[in-house]
Amino acid sequence: MPKVKTFYQCQTCGYTSPKWLGKCPDCGTWNSLVEERQETISHRTSLPAHFRKAEPQFLSSIKAGFEQRTSTGIRELDRVLGGGVITGSVILVGGDPGIGKSTLLLQALPGLSRYGQVLYVSGEESPEQIKIRAERLSINSDDIILLSETSLRGIVDTALKLTPKAMVVDSIQTVYTEEILSAPGSVSQVRECAAKLMIFAKKSDIPVFLVGHVTKEGAIAGPRVLEHIVDTVLYFEGDRGHSYRILRTVKNRFGSTNEIGVFEMSDSGLREIENPSELFLLERPLNVSGSTVVAALEGTRPLMVEIQSLVSQTNFGMPRRTTIGVDFNRVNLLVAVLEKRAGLYLGGMDIFVNVVGGLRIIEPAVDLGIISTIASSLKDVPIDPKIFVFGEVGLSGEIRAIAQAEVRVKEASKIGFKKAVMPLGNAEKIKDSLGLEIIGVKDVEGTLEAVLS
Ligand code: TYD
Ligand code: MG
Repeated sequence: MPKVKTFYQCQTCGYTSPKWLGKCPDCGTWNSLVEERQETISHRTSLPAHFRKAEPQFLSSIKAGFEQRTSTGIRELDRVLGGGVITGSVILVGGDPGIGKSTLLLQALPGLSRYGQVLYVSGEESPEQIKIRAERLSINSDDIILLSETSLRGIVDTALKLTPKAMVVDSIQTVYTEEILSAPGSVSQVRECAAKLMIFAKKSDIPVFLVGHVTKEGAIAGPRVLEHIVDTVLYFEGDRGHSYRILRTVKNRFGSTNEIGVFEMSDSGLREIENPSELFLLERPLNVSGSTVVAALEGTRPLMVEIQSLVSQTNFGMPRRTTIGVDFNRVNLLVAVLEKRAGLYLGGMDIFVNVVGGLRIIEPAVDLGIISTIASSLKDVPIDPKIFVFGEVGLSGEIRAIAQAEVRVKEASKIGFKKAVMPLGNAEKIKDSLGLEIIGVKDVEGTLEAVLS
């Protein structure tokens, strides 16, 4: 009889321990260790016979023509994938429950089915429920096959029989393999099933989309353990209160990361937003202090976003600092620079900084926007709505050049901005100002003068 080994595994980071612990010593999460069981016999290395054997080959003999990419028919999805789906790749689509992962992948099926049959495996919804949703999305194709199955073996067997052009597994947390005794959705099940599906995709050349739910902590459940198994990790995010959704590339073996796709959730499914800058600036208050527009870059895509701030006298001893969408420590650092280098008094002030539209901006180009908006709010002087800024701020108050200034200027001119405040190092190199007034600044004081006058 095979011996069954019992151990405890952290459901957040995958740490294993022979006995139960209240707190994971690795990632520090409380109450995350769950009992898992494993048979200790080593039969698992054998692969099914229908998997072909790999032959060694010379690097020089390999023809690297075009990568085999197929379009999903959804341009925003193709963009985050790096230009389309690569044959045999495994793509993880993560996100909160109800954000629209199933809807997105269902909408991608008609596009993928142009090349042949596609298989949608659902362990969460019945075929009837999927049909109702498909009708709502006006999806009607003879090449979409539904399978209600949660056993990994059943899924792989059906896929090998049908050899579809693409497969969706919704969701990886519902899939289980008999080889592991733990419950579906546990770290070891999720990891094992994903690894098996990865082998399946590589050997069969069928691209596989995996839907992954996210735990409260924000990690893909079974979480980081999945991210390094798959080829591409897409993260679907958005605010419940807003209808737009952002699909972000977190990892991509076949393209750049930090690429984003923007969608809007409507009555008839997800709609692509081709010009997100206009959307994000739609409700911008004009001539109000504490609002600046930054030309940010998400992957290769320029994006004009509004940064708002509110600076007010603190009522308690300890001033509050709150940031949404920008790095908290970065804002604190910039506040210190403003105090020291521009002589602004912010010590007794509550400061709130917010990126409008639920966006998250991590690149340093946003610095100039943060200092401008804080100074504008503190002095209660509005910034001209036709001005936009970008640039990095150093600790001595110097403004540093950033990458791809020209792309940002082009996007701004397209939406009708008239004046750009940017690092001197960038301003000197701009060849075509596209009719904009370009102001190069070299320190914090110069920046505030340029935006607040
Ligand atoms: P869903 O794709 O089921 O989310 P997930 O698979 O990530 O859990 O999306 C469900 C949400 O989307 C639900 O709140 C209803 C909404 N929705 C629309 O607003 N319009 C639509 O056409 C569809 C299909 C869903
Ligand atoms: Mg779903």
